[in-house]
Amino acid sequence: MSEAASAPRPGGERPDAAVDTRAKVHRTETKTKTPAEAKRQGPTLDVVRADHRVKTFIRSANQQTGAIGYTEHGERHANTCADGARFILRSLGHEARRCELAAIAAYLHDIGNVVTREKHGQTGALIAKDILADLGFDYEEIATVMGAIANHEEEEGGTAISAISAAVILADKSDVHRSRVRNPKSTAFDIHDRVNYAATSAEIKVSRKEKQIALYLTIDTETAPLMEYFEIFLSRMILCRRAAEFLHCTFALVINDTRLL
Ligand SMILES: [Fe+2]
Ligand SMILES: [Fe+2]
Repeated sequence: MSEAASAPRPGGERPDAAVDTRAKVHRTETKTKTPAEAKRQGPTLDVVRADHRVKTFIRSANQQTGAIGYTEHGERHANTCADGARFILRSLGHEARRCELAAIAAYLHDIGNVVTREKHGQTGALIAKDILADLGFDYEEIATVMGAIANHEEEEGGTAISAISAAVILADKSDVHRSRVRNPKSTAFDIHDRVNYAATSAEIKVSRKEKQIALYLTIDTETAPLMEYFEIFLSRMILCRRAAEFLHCTFALVINDTRLL
């Protein structure tokens, strides 16, 4: 796979000599597609996304996480993560079917919230197993997807255990954005709301040549001081660093044009 130039950024390029400017860029509006090769080898993300159980459980999981004050965990988050996970592996030159499985695992990673927030990685893996088996997935593939779903949360002891799991972690933890905040009253924001609301853009850049995966964030420090970002995201960034290492890459965090990790 050849190196591509960075996609143009809204608002112009930010200067940053620390990170390879030829890296591939992913942001939420970028949509990757299933290649024909991955379709020939088995069911695709489109098949999973169309399943009525998947639609219902993700919608319900989103309502239930909303009821306990969490940020958006519905189809927007599922699609953003699926696209990001596929983008990361594809940018690193992984085969088409593995990229598709990463997208599927990322799409389903939070489905366990339909049961309860606690241990939602593990419940999600079991829910996904039955659905994917019904949809005709090979059990080798199901096993890989289950492991990726069950290992996506640092608070539940999760860590990268496969390339697909690493891609899911990086895509999930990179989805920090004001559009995820559901609390209608800014005066009642908790630290998670404040940090997400302060994030006006989040992009993943992958440089295969430099072997680097970078998260670029723009944070409105009037809304949330950077310290608050680190207060809740430090453990997630450590998880991301380990996930990048699993993919033989370094991890970089760039906030407001300054490289912090
Ligand atoms: Fe989760
Ligand atoms: Fe998530």
